[in-house]
Amino acid sequence: MSLAPAADSAETAMAKLSLCSMPLVLAIILLSATHSEQHQSSQAQTLLRIVRFLNFPTVLNSRNIYKDLCNFEANSSLAVICYEGNITQLHIIGEKDAPLLPRNFSIDSFITTLVKLPSLKVLTLVSLGLWGPLPGKIIRLSSLEILNLTSNFLYGAIPLELSSLTTLQTLILDDNMFSGPLPDWLSSLPVLAVLSLKKNLFNSSLPNSLSDLENLRVLGLSHNHFYGKCLILAV
Ligand SMILES: *[C@@H]1O[C@H](CO)[C@@H](O)[C@H](O)[C@H]1NC(C)=O
Ligand SMILES: *[C@@H]1O[C@H](CO)[C@@H](O)[C@H](O)[C@H]1NC(C)=O
Ligand SMILES: *[C@@H]1O[C@H](CO)[C@@H](O)[C@H](O)[C@H]1NC(C)=O
Ligand SMILES: *[C@@H]1O[C@H](CO)[C@@H](O)[C@H](O)[C@H]1NC(C)=O
Ligand SMILES: *[C@@H]1O[C@H](CO)[C@@H](O)[C@H](O)[C@H]1NC(C)=O
Repeated sequence: MSLAPAADSAETAMAKLSLCSMPLVLAIILLSATHSEQHQSSQAQTLLRIVRFLNFPTVLNSRNIYKDLCNFEANSSLAVICYEGNITQLHIIGEKDAPLLPRNFSIDSFITTLVKLPSLKVLTLVSLGLWGPLPGKIIRLSSLEILNLTSNFLYGAIPLELSSLTTLQTLILDDNMFSGPLPDWLSSLPVLAVLSLKKNLFNSSLPNSLSDLENLRVLGLSHNHFYGKCLILAV
């Protein structure tokens, strides 16, 4: 006989529960909204810092890109592409024959800032006057598929760390001042399809291991100081 009231109170409890859970759901929605807003604004902060490093090239003068980072209209000198709110592609293309960035530019700090966009898959930084040795920590962009650093003043060796970027499909370092031997670990990049190192100062013979790059479609090595025997590549 005492079952009825018990059921009653169970129902009331259910009703209370569903009433109570509403604000909870709302709170969760609101929380995740502010979370993604925070994420957006932290990416915008990072982009702003990147722009500062580049000495505010005219391409990035527009303020509106910081307001709505992911829906900003791309053009030939600047594009930001997002996937689910994360920047996955960043293309910044400066003016042809851009001069060296000033002496106080630090490629190391620049890359440290850049790797705060860890979802980047495609990174194009062309004609921006970047100078210095390419820091190995760029591999913290562990999803990187396309890296295009054409027409800057980067020098030294291609950092060994790049050998662990197993997602890398396209590596373009044309028109820089990279030097030293062509590393034979390049062949350990499993999906590398495009390798272009034209107009640099590489001086070595070509490593035999290049022919192990099974997915290689494009190889650009002109205007360097390569020597030695020919390699037969099945590309
Ligand atoms: C690309 O867009 C940016 C930002 O809106 C602007 O500053 C720049 O002048 C544009 N560049 C070209 C080539 O249209
Ligand atoms: C977006 O970035 C955040 C923070 O880095 C990460 O937690 C989340 O998994 C990323 N989302 C996607 C879809 O990659
Ligand atoms: C570098 O120096 C220039 C002035 O020569 C200054 O405007 C700029 O803010 C400095 N950049 C950094 C990163 O300190
Ligand atoms: C790399 O940048 C150069 C210079 O803007 C461009 O001509 C080339 O098409 C780019 N390659 C890729 C694969 O993005
Ligand atoms: C390559 O160039 C560097 C720097 O100019 C030089 O020290 C080195 O001996 C050269 N190596 C070869 C194999 O020519």
